[in-house]
Amino acid sequence: MKCAVLGHPIRHSKSPIIHQYWMDRHDIDGLYKSIDIAPENLKQEVGRLIQKEGYVGFNVTVPHKQAVMACCDVVEPVAQAIGAVNTIYIDDNQIVGTNTDAFGFIENIKRNGDFIFSDKVACVLGAGGAARAVIYGLINAGVSKIYLTNRTRHKAEELLSMAQDKIQIIDWGERSEVLHDVDLLVNTTSLGMLDKPELKIDLQFLSPHAVVNDIVYSPLMTDLLSRAKQSGNPTVTGIGMLLYQAAPAFEKWANIMPSITTELQSMVLK
Ligand code: ATR
Repeated sequence: MKCAVLGHPIRHSKSPIIHQYWMDRHDIDGLYKSIDIAPENLKQEVGRLIQKEGYVGFNVTVPHKQAVMACCDVVEPVAQAIGAVNTIYIDDNQIVGTNTDAFGFIENIKRNGDFIFSDKVACVLGAGGAARAVIYGLINAGVSKIYLTNRTRHKAEELLSMAQDKIQIIDWGERSEVLHDVDLLVNTTSLGMLDKPELKIDLQFLSPHAVVNDIVYSPLMTDLLSRAKQSGNPTVTGIGMLLYQAAPAFEKWANIMPSITTELQSMVLK
């Protein structure tokens, strides 16, 4: 079974560690590579890897998640709604694109506590590609309201069409002010990532029961998460989203839903 992650650049991807671990655990004679493809060669390379080299599956990462949709014969509704493909598999000789990021996001929170999404209020920081998957996941999981805030307001406004009646846009400067009303706070910006500025947000009015999740996982304990923890709020780190989005991709290729073990988690965090 030949699979790969496609990106540009690609050297920091953790996907090879995850999928090679599962292939080994399930005695699958397989290979999982990182393949760097320049944007202008994407369509040609995807076709060549499948037809000439026998690849049966891909994960797709930055900057190809949108462009790769044009390489697919079928784009599943979930990927259409998110506007991005992160997983490709072959079904009946057709190249199928799907998206497992929303599943990964929701599953990570579900598995790390007893949070129930139905009728809850969320606050999402950021309006990039990751935010689209997070919002899709939240809406499908049944939240009643999402406060959405982004430095560049018009980008947040572009996401309104995902659920006009549930999303309320807040000015970036007012992000701390809605926190008394939220059950779940999610950072989807790159702030707090290694070598990036910290996320500035005042948690003093954060509801004491609110769950705080950062999709940044390097560092694992971001400044946001450690401040939330100090305030006594439940926190969920970002590494689980990476692991749980990988599992359904592996299932598409191998017909096996793999387990996320503590051994795998520590290998990925090394
Ligand atoms: P991804 O696909 O991982 O979501 P992205 O599409 O580049 O990455 O989005 C990055 C997010 O981080 C955006 O919401 C971005 O805000 P802008 O839309 O205003 O660019 C946010 N972000 C990055 N640097 C930021 C900063 N210094 N202050 C506030 N927000 C920032």
